[in-house]
Amino acid sequence: MPTNLDPADRAKFASAEGALKFVEDGMRLGLGTGSTAAWLVRLLAEKVQSEKIDITCVPTSSRTRDLAESLGLKVTTLDDVGWLDLTIDGADEFDPELNLIKGGGGALLQEKIVATASDQMLVISDDSKQVDHLGAFALPVEVVKFGWETTKAIIEDALSDAAVAGDTVTLRLSRDAPYITDEGHYILDLHLRKIEAPMGLSIVLNQIPGVVENGLFVDIADAVCIGYASGEHRIMKPAREADDVLSTP
Ligand code: 5RP
Repeated sequence: MPTNLDPADRAKFASAEGALKFVEDGMRLGLGTGSTAAWLVRLLAEKVQSEKIDITCVPTSSRTRDLAESLGLKVTTLDDVGWLDLTIDGADEFDPELNLIKGGGGALLQEKIVATASDQMLVISDDSKQVDHLGAFALPVEVVKFGWETTKAIIEDALSDAAVAGDTVTLRLSRDAPYITDEGHYILDLHLRKIEAPMGLSIVLNQIPGVVENGLFVDIADAVCIGYASGEHRIMKPAREADDVLSTP
């Protein structure tokens, strides 16, 4: 581990380092987005070089693609490979069932497509993202630009009937202008404080015209590699699962 990292980055690094053990020669690998995923990409590039293994990578954002290519990783598209063995990605929150909030970095749409097209999804995270209930982190929802204010109003209306503790919706900005995703959409952040029923809310949101996708990942993640500032990590599986996923090498 680099010596000059602050505690938060040490935990992210430890998580990415722990996840690297699940990467095997010949894999088609989904690469997540965010600061934790960036550590993974850097460590993966070192592993590929030192172990001379063949890994085909599908990034979940232009940022991750740029980083992976700059480090010499073999990068392609999801359409080229069709399906992936494993996706490793960060999260903004995860609950005991490993339901996630994702999209803090604005890449939730490609992230969900890639994770869903993978045999397994491994989340990399420091321990600060572990929660009993999702919702303290604002839920990102990707919407098309056309009629976005009407879409926002319909979302607000839907939230009044949903099992959530807050209902404020804000347009995500970047330097005073709307943040634009890789797919050319806007992001609305839903400040819900507590989400009682993630699957139900996800279905309700995705039925609203103008909503492209939401940042709730329900029943998608197979395990979380939790990193600690001490440099240690542990693998956490969802309470519902038996021991047959992501057995530690
Ligand atoms: C990007 C994401 C990220 O995985 C999430 O925001 C976590 O990022 P970080 O590792 O920087 O804390 O969902 O859309």
